[in-house]
This record gives sequence, C-alpha cells and structure tokens, in this order.
Amino acid sequence: MKKVLLIIALCVGMANINFADEGMWIPLLLEKYNIQDMQKKGFKLSAEDIYSINQDCLMDAVVIFGRGCTGEIVSDKGLLLTNHHCGYGAIQKHSTIEHDYLTNGFWAMNMKEELPNPDLSVKFLKRIEDVSAKVLKDIKPEMTEANKSKIIVKNIAALKKQAQKGNNYKVVIKPFFYGNQYYMFLYEEYTDVRLVGAPPSAIGKFGGDTDNWMWPRHTGDFSIFRVYADKNNKPAKYSKDNVPYKPKKFLPISIKGIKKGDFTWVMGYPGSTQEYLISDAIKLIANVRNPHRIKLRDERLAVMNSYASKNDTIRIKYASKNARVSNSWKRWKGEISGLERLQTIKKKQELEQKFQAWAKQNNKTEYSDIIPQLSKIYSEVEDLAIAYDYWRESIRAIEVISFASKFDNIIRMANEKKSDKEIKAEIEYLQAQAKKFYKDYVRNIDEDIFSKLVPMYFENVKSEYQAHVPDLNLKKGISTYAHKLFNKTIFTNEEKCTNLLNNFTVADIETLKQDPVYVFYTYFKDAYTTKVKAQYDALNAQTNKLYRSYLKGLQEMNPDKIYYPDANFTMRVSYGNIEGFSPRDGVEYTYYTTIDGVIEKDNPEIYDYDVPDRLKELHTAKDFGRYQENGTVNTCFIATNHTTGGNSGSPVLDAEGNLIGLNFDRAWHGIQSDMMFDPERSRNVTLDIRYLLFIIDKLAGAGHLVEEMTIIE
Ligand code: ARG
Ligand code: GLU
Repeated sequence: MKKVLLIIALCVGMANINFADEGMWIPLLLEKYNIQDMQKKGFKLSAEDIYSINQDCLMDAVVIFGRGCTGEIVSDKGLLLTNHHCGYGAIQKHSTIEHDYLTNGFWAMNMKEELPNPDLSVKFLKRIEDVSAKVLKDIKPEMTEANKSKIIVKNIAALKKQAQKGNNYKVVIKPFFYGNQYYMFLYEEYTDVRLVGAPPSAIGKFGGDTDNWMWPRHTGDFSIFRVYADKNNKPAKYSKDNVPYKPKKFLPISIKGIKKGDFTWVMGYPGSTQEYLISDAIKLIANVRNPHRIKLRDERLAVMNSYASKNDTIRIKYASKNARVSNSWKRWKGEISGLERLQTIKKKQELEQKFQAWAKQNNKTEYSDIIPQLSKIYSEVEDLAIAYDYWRESIRAIEVISFASKFDNIIRMANEKKSDKEIKAEIEYLQAQAKKFYKDYVRNIDEDIFSKLVPMYFENVKSEYQAHVPDLNLKKGISTYAHKLFNKTIFTNEEKCTNLLNNFTVADIETLKQDPVYVFYTYFKDAYTTKVKAQYDALNAQTNKLYRSYLKGLQEMNPDKIYYPDANFTMRVSYGNIEGFSPRDGVEYTYYTTIDGVIEKDNPEIYDYDVPDRLKELHTAKDFGRYQENGTVNTCFIATNHTTGGNSGSPVLDAEGNLIGLNFDRAWHGIQSDMMFDPERSRNVTLDIRYLLFIIDKLAGAGHLVEEMTIIE
C-alpha cells in the first residue's frame, strides 16, 4: 500500500514538474511527448492536426513574418494577421507628415490600394526532420571541438544540398540542447507581402512604452498584410501581375468568447531562451550585465525623449527606434526582479549540487567536473562580457558609428581589388542604406547620445580591453570633441555622403578611410576584435560544450522528465490555460480586459493614452455588433502559455484549433521566464480577436476584410 501511494505521489509530483505549462515544444514530437497531456487538459484535436506531412494541418497557416515575428493566414486569399509592432517598420516606411499612417491608421479599401514592402517576406514551414544522426555522423567523443565542428559543418552542408534538390526551399539546420540534437527545417519564402491595414497607433500601440510588458493591458496590437504569389501560386518578387496567395490552410476565427481555465495554445517562433543556465550565469546577468545595459539605455532614452516630446517630426522619425530601445530595457529590469523573487540563484545551486552528487554516486566521471568548469569560466568572462556589452550598447549604439561601419565592406573590397561589377553592387547597397539612414536621422540627438555614452565606455570597460583614441582627452570635455567630429565627418551630412556614393570612384576610398567618424569607429572595432572578441568567443564555445554535457547528464539523471529545448527561432507549440494572477500580496488580476478600460485610461494630454474620438463614439453608442459580450468588448487576455520574443503575432488558439487572439507580449511580473518560468506569474498577453475584428469592422469600416475570414459564432 505504502509503495502504491509513493508511486502515485511520485507520478503526481512528476506531472507537476513536467507539465507546469512551462515548455516550448517541437511540433514534430507532440505525438510522442505532449498530445496526451494536451488532450487531458482539454485539447480536442490530434497531433497530426497541428503538424503533419501527410495532410493539410494548422502549421501550414503559420509563418515567420519578416525577421523576428510570427504571422498567420486567415483567408483563402492570403490575408495575414500579425502584431502592429511587427508591421511597424512597414507602416512607418509608408508614413509621412501628409500621410501619417502611424497616427491615423491605414486601410486598403480594395486590393489595388494595398502597399508593397520590398524588405518584407514571410516563410511557410514545409517540413521538420530530426537530422541528429546525420549531422553527428563520424563524430567521436575524443575529438577536439574544432575537429567536431569541421565535420558538423561538412555534414550540414551536404544535408542542405540534398534537401534543396528539385525545390526552391530555404533549408535551415539548427542545434538543439547545445548540439546534442539537430533538426532541419524547410521553408518556402514569399517576398511579395503587402500592407492591408493598421489601426492608428493610439490603438495599435495604445499605452505605448508605459504599458509595454504590463498587465492590465488594452493594446490593439495588430496589423494586416496580404501574401501575393505568381500565377502558379509560387513565390515571386513584387509585380502588379501577382495574385493573392492561395494557402493550403487558413485559420478559422472563433468569436464565441473565452472563460477562465479554458485550454489555449500558441504556435509560433520563439526566438531565444536560456532555461538551463547555471547559477553563476544568472548572477552575471542579474547583477552585472543587465544593470550596465539598463544604465546605458536610460541615457539614450532620456536624450531621444527630450527631443521627441518637443517636435512631432522628430517623434515620428524616432518612434520605431525608441520602441526598440525601450523594449529590452524594460524587460531587463523585469528579469532582475523576477529572478530575485524566484530565488533563481539558490534553486539553480541546489540543482547543481544534486547533479554533482548524482554524478559522484553513479561514478559518472564525465559529468563530475562540469559545474566547477562552468563556474570558472563565468568568473573569467565577466570583464569581457562588460567590454562586449559596452561595444554593442555604447559605441555601436551611436547611430552615425553604426552607419559608418557599413562602409567596412566597400573599403575591404577596394583593398582586395574586386571587380567593378561587385563594387557597383556594393555601392547600390550603400545607397539604399544611406537613404534609410538619413530618412530618420537627427544629428543633434545622436551627438548628445555620443557625448553621454563615450565617457561611460571609458569609465566601465576594464582598461586592458579599452580602445585608445589618441586625440580624445575626456578631461577637456566630450561635447566640444563630439561637435567637431560631427561637423567634420561626411556621415552626418546627407548631401555630401549621397554625392560621394552617386559619383563613386575608387579614389573615394581614401576619403572614407580618413573620415574622422570612420577612424574613431575603427579604434573601438580594433580594440574589440583584437582584445575582446576572440577570448570572449572562445570562452563561449567552451561553455557551449560544457552545457551540451550538462544537459545530456541532466536528462540521464531525470529519465522521466521530458526536457524541451531552448527557443532558437524554430516553430514551437506552447500550451496552457486562460488564467489571471496575483502580482503582489492582496492584489488579484483578472484574466481579461475590456474596452471600458481603454476609455478609463483616456487622456488627451498624454500621447500614449489619447483615445481616438471615433472609438469613444462607438463606446458611448455601445455599437459593438456581434463582437460584444455583456455589453462591452473584451480587449486582451492572459494565459499560462510559455512564450518569448519572436512569438509576437503568434496565433493563440482554442481547443478546436480556432483563432481566438494574437500573442503580443508577456506580463512583467513573470518576465524572467526566458531563464525560469513561474507558473504562478508567467503569463503571455493576447489581443482578443473580437477587439481586432471590432476595430476593422466598426472603426475602420473595412468589413470586407472580415467577410473574407471564416468567423465561428
Ligand atoms: N514587449 C513586446 C515585445 O517584446 C512589444 C514591443 C513593442 N512595443 C513597444 N511599446 N515597445 O516585442
Ligand atoms: N513582444 C514580443 C515579440 O516581439 C513578445 C513578447 C515576449 O517577449 O514574450 O516577440
């Protein structure tokens, strides 16, 4: 009897450990690892309905959107939904003071009005394959890392070549569990993707950076695009002869509504997590790296905001940059407090002790030294990591420096005496880059940021890793130095720089090489490449190898626990249920918000909370149509799905596989879930699909788009 009880207790305990809604699972392995658990929790479909190579499946409707987001197809004419902040770049590029789509929104009333976006593509996943055995073929444990990686590179190249035969697919092979496993992904990339609709920022970015990462939330974070194909439904560059893409599968949409506890799941492209770091790595992030990075971005944001708040043109120019800078800045802050609250360091230390003891008891000598070795590396890496972060977050954060760095290539090409044709192509690339750069560049902002960040570099980077700038004397004050530099360089001068590019001859290489900003940049680049990078990379490669063993060992130690691999921007499925949470003692958050909360937050004085009149009218008239519930419209909801950056725009689905919302954020109180998931507080934030439809239908009067979709009432 006792034994039976013990077994039951063990199983219950195990179930909790394994399936605490934590995990980003590989679609190919759902059948093996997750489907029973999912169905027990309410899922009504099979694993084959999600991922299959034998039948059309939900995966066929989910795409990589642009470079770092997810999107989903919702009509048989290639209509696509993603977040407003994912479409932001595209919306901004089409915006001017006269046609300010950021402020006013944009709606194509017919297909002819849809706007092309040369830099945008979407990728459909065709197939996943476990290629571990093939990639690791001929690898022997006693080989050096360098030899191993040579063989792996060769094996991967051969596999790719084979997989590409007879198709136009993009093939990607990625390591999982630090290289214990490898998976191959075949994508079909469509490059004609047009902007169809976007709400005004006052809706799509409602709450702005104040509400970003927060709950309760009222952001209508969506934008609409359409994928176009050639006459054979194949990928094609933009052409007015292209036709709407006919998808294998599109997602039906349910407006039946949600309730607490409902099963819900997310399919998309989480970018990167570090769930298996050891305690010393967490210490480095929480106590050293995040604080430095936060401090640097504090300064940048302060400068940008001081200009943007006084001038609308500048506000538009810097809107996208500002959002990018503030986003990680706020996440880093949340990570610090979340890691502390969860006592992550202590918990990780306990696991490490357990691991050490297990290795010793079982005579697993290959694992006995891993933790001490990793620990040693973390003590060595700290100063290098700081140097690395300051290179990226101070020097390269100066816009004109990052622009000047783009000329590295042309200088190298001239040195190597590349052909005229290659040089010409590179110049064309630079012309395009310059156009982008100057469109949104404000020299005074950049100059002020330069004056703030450069001294911080010298205060914080250990002297042996610093750059030496001969003509810079910080005691004399940085502002005069900055001003001279910014006056002398051609890179702050649109006319001069564009002229140089338009009439480029090889003689201009000297001008570029001697440009004061370019020279300034090379001091730092050289310091970084000669003093920091090699050592830093070498230590990282060592940790990679040690983590590979550590994870192998952990899985041996806990044979019944199912481990999920860290996110690596490959398709994953997360599942959980709709659930509120308590952010602190005595406070309980509900799982949904409504349009009443939008009106509550309304404040015409504050840019982020200036509710459009049309929305207020609809609210007063209660003109909610079929999107209402209890006399209001639900705006957002939260659930226990484990997600991260890259999941933006991901479909949030119900038990039957209907679309009920768009993932767009996580709640701040559980944001350390990239390193440690907290079942009690880690929540993904979703835009309720009914608010999205209400905006399209009632606010924009673009009901024809809703008609294209399949709505389940
Ligand atoms: N926090 C969300 C994400 O990580 C939204 C970011 C964009 N919005 C913003 N206000 N910065 O991408
Ligand atoms: N907004 C994030 C993105 O762009 C998703 C939020 C998160 O990090 O979970 O992917």
